[in-house]
Amino acid sequence: MILVVVGGGGREHAIIKKLGENKNVDKIYALPGNGGIAEDAECASVAATDVKGVVDFCVSHKVDYVVVAPDDPLVMGMTDALKEAGIPSFGPSKDAAIIEGSKVFSKNLMKKYGIPTAAYEVFSDPKEAYRYVESCPVPTVIKADGLALGKGVIIAETREDAKNAVKTIMEDKKFGKSGDEIVIEEFLTGPEVSVLSFTDGKTMVPMVSSMDHKRALDGDKGLNTGGMGTVAPNPYYTEAVAKECMEKIFLPTMEAMNREGRTFKGCLYFGLMITADGPKVIEYNCRFGDPETQVVLPLLKTDLFDIMRAVTEERLADINIEWKDESAACVVIASGGYPESYKKGYPIELPEDRKGIYVAGAELRDGVLVTSGGRVLGVTETAPSLPEALEKAYRTAEKVHFTDMHMRRDIGKRALSALGIK
Ligand code: AMP
Ligand code: GLY
Repeated sequence: MILVVVGGGGREHAIIKKLGENKNVDKIYALPGNGGIAEDAECASVAATDVKGVVDFCVSHKVDYVVVAPDDPLVMGMTDALKEAGIPSFGPSKDAAIIEGSKVFSKNLMKKYGIPTAAYEVFSDPKEAYRYVESCPVPTVIKADGLALGKGVIIAETREDAKNAVKTIMEDKKFGKSGDEIVIEEFLTGPEVSVLSFTDGKTMVPMVSSMDHKRALDGDKGLNTGGMGTVAPNPYYTEAVAKECMEKIFLPTMEAMNREGRTFKGCLYFGLMITADGPKVIEYNCRFGDPETQVVLPLLKTDLFDIMRAVTEERLADINIEWKDESAACVVIASGGYPESYKKGYPIELPEDRKGIYVAGAELRDGVLVTSGGRVLGVTETAPSLPEALEKAYRTAEKVHFTDMHMRRDIGKRALSALGIK
């Protein structure tokens, strides 16, 4: 079988390594992949957002199956275009990817079907938004409607900040058309849990839960990033919480999408907050999370390609999905200065054993792997317990070297204290 994985980050590297475990997989192409992924797949320079380019590549290379990993091509309708060309793929249709592509859509969906989420208002006129924030409770949360590279969410501590956020998104158009409409919502508090799920629209199978660390610096300080590390499972996701989520959030979301004629097939990501009133949805993503995938997939026992094909063919109910009874920890190593400005082009030294190394921002220059992005790579280790997984991950991270590298030293600390471990 010849496979294509669309995308070029750490998440895609984790997906490619897992797919490579299947004996029927002869070849994997990554479009565009990156310098580190090139060890595990053949990279071709087709942009992940080039729908026509990806379809043409798949046709000319007789590709049997495609995994579309990032949000943009899914929201643009890449799986629909592949289907038209007769190529099966993993990932939702454009109609279903709107669950991530439009926050207004997802908030209205939750309201219509009674799925617990933060109370909210939608604005398309900045004047009305300004009037609203003059008297709204603070802190408040302001979100651009569309995709904004995970940066379209502003938590405003004061009404003045809220006004500035409205201006930034709706008038200065910092996120372009994504800011034509905004959602202003209630500020919720509580631990956050990420739950990825496999669904074919008939069956919903949550994966192992995980915890992201979004801030750049230790102690959850500094700017929001794409994610500086993850652990799995998430100790806040107890059996009771899992049961409540399944009943009140996961199954109702799958059903709601079916009722809207937007059946979701693929990986549906639930970003949850465990509030005093129970779990609530912070966001939906129409894809695997990054860097959640880097801790979730290493714990998967069942063959990933078998699961993906079952999702595509709507026979997920026939597959028994099993997980290792272990913990996983991923420490992201970034370029110093990320998520603001940083230098690129530094040579990267990696450990001999690359099993748990997932490369995100690196390229090959004259055969040498050099940094090319903010998040350069993730180091994942699994172990029978979380403290052991963390210790192993940090030990492996010590074997990675490049100029100006930055990693958080406290990944998993909150999870450990939730487990009662100092
Ligand atoms: P999102 O891109 O929607 O995941 O939002 C980014 C981050 O902003 C989330 O992971 C939360 O930490 C925070 N956030 C989003 N919505 C809310 C909310 N209603 N209350 C508190 N924090 C929020
Ligand atoms: N880690 C959050 C995301 O993938 O959106």
